[in-house]
Amino acid sequence: MLEDIAIRRTRPGDIDSISRIEQVSFKDPWKAAVFAESLTYFPETFFVAARQGEVVGFIVGGLEDTGEEIYGHICNLAVAPACRKQGIARRLVQREEQQFAVELATGVQLEVRVSNRDAQRFYRRLGYRAVLRFAGYYANGEDALVMMKWFR
Ligand SMILES: CC(C)(COP(=O)(O)OP(=O)(O)OC[C@H]1O[C@@H](n2cnc3c(N)ncnc32)[C@H](O)[C@@H]1OP(=O)(O)O)[C@@H](O)C(=O)NCCC(=O)NCCS
Repeated sequence: MLEDIAIRRTRPGDIDSISRIEQVSFKDPWKAAVFAESLTYFPETFFVAARQGEVVGFIVGGLEDTGEEIYGHICNLAVAPACRKQGIARRLVQREEQQFAVELATGVQLEVRVSNRDAQRFYRRLGYRAVLRFAGYYANGEDALVMMKWFR
């Protein structure tokens, strides 16, 4: 099943499909324009998972350079509900981590809602650990858990 999944860089024509997955995946979905902007700024670290040409998942990442360290940031990740629990998100994250490593990042950071236990477990299995909590990070006042993984 996973063999027919291709992970490739996002193209402008993918934005509509990505937005549809986003709408059914989050309480406060990104607008299509935000995805288009992300593609302009981070074309190297914005990937989709496609099955027979159809986009079934995506990951948006970016690189941040603090002057002392470069680290990757996973900004958004979702898989179409019908395609979950098949290992697609794992492949998207692994492809993203590979790209971050190529760009000499020392680690990866992401934020996840404290209520999103499924996503937290998913990231923990991939080696991410909760490092701190941002109070009131989301529009509805919910806290974010910051999770990190270090490459060395
Ligand atoms: C979180 C999310 C991206 C995971 O996507 P996914 O493609 O289902 O993830 P995977 O299939 O790689 O892994 C999910 C689980 O399925 C399991 N799994 C993978 N392949 C499997 C298979 N063939 N059979 C059964 N289970 C399987 C994995 O072990 C994993 O278990 P875990 O969560 O206990 O570690 C997805 O649930 C989603 O889009 N959620 C809504 C948006 C969201 O919360 N995004 C993250 C916010 S930061």
